[in-house]
Amino acid sequence: MPTPIIFDTDPGVDDAQAIAIALAHPDIELLGLTTTFGNVTIEVATHNALLLVELAGQSIPIAQGAAGPLVKTKNPPPGHIHGDNGLGDISLPPVETQALKQSAAQFIVDQVNARPGEVVVVAVGPLGNLAAALQLDPGLVDKVKRVVVMGGSIREGGNVTPVAEANIFNDPHAAAKVLEASWPLTLVGLDATHRCVLDPQSMARIVEAQGALGKVLGESYAFYRNFYQQALGIDGCCPHDSCALVWLLRPDLFSVERGYLSVVTDGLAEGQTLMAPESREFVDSRWSHGTPADVCMNANGSGVIDWIVETLTTHRSP
Ligand code: RIB
Ligand code: CA
Repeated sequence: MPTPIIFDTDPGVDDAQAIAIALAHPDIELLGLTTTFGNVTIEVATHNALLLVELAGQSIPIAQGAAGPLVKTKNPPPGHIHGDNGLGDISLPPVETQALKQSAAQFIVDQVNARPGEVVVVAVGPLGNLAAALQLDPGLVDKVKRVVVMGGSIREGGNVTPVAEANIFNDPHAAAKVLEASWPLTLVGLDATHRCVLDPQSMARIVEAQGALGKVLGESYAFYRNFYQQALGIDGCCPHDSCALVWLLRPDLFSVERGYLSVVTDGLAEGQTLMAPESREFVDSRWSHGTPADVCMNANGSGVIDWIVETLTTHRSP
């Protein structure tokens, strides 16, 4: 049976590729997309989600969510990484569909309550929608099957500050609520995603296989690739958000440690994620909130890339 998922996203070049996987993979039942600010404004995020689903020839519910962080002042969207339009500033066709009237948080609550114990929420942007859903229904912690978060960094260092990863940094207060809650949670952070580099030749194969959607994935990838060349000196891109889906369907490609997660919400280390290993005791219990999470500490990079390419060259949206 395919796994029912809600995909919470701020598309975003790497989000777009992950959405293509979620739409195409036969082992995923995509219940809907929920959108958040992050790589782009909330309006652009919702626009891009609608467009990508249309280009795939599918009709999937899309619910708009958080326009900004819970507490801190919103950072400007990173136009130099994803483009001002989130998809590498390429020209895009007009969008014809509309988002639901329902909020993202309400959509998550309703879908999880309709199928208790079955739904996995995969979140690959700032975590305001999940934090709001938890506030609407604290019982979600026992009803969601699992929460998979692309975000954070334990030993790898940060990508927007020396210690913080972008999704956590963009809304650390929401991230603290989500990562410290007592639900089954897997963190797929930079410790794993930086081991995976999608090279241009592999991307070309995906473009060829994915039709109109592939064209947008390929052209936006070119912009994202420039950023990686300049920032990290590598020829290729880390498919961060796809890695969360790879973990869901191929957990054997990751090394996992169990630990309690915390998020630093203020000060110089704002947005840093900390993991207290389950097996260790510290001077007091401040670092041991909720339930231990599964934290991806490494990945089989070539295995992950092979899986992504295989998925997007074998399965195409109807
Ligand atoms: O740090 C990587 C994450 O930040 C990804 O989700 C990417 O889309 C950006 O939002
Ligand atoms: Ca993202």
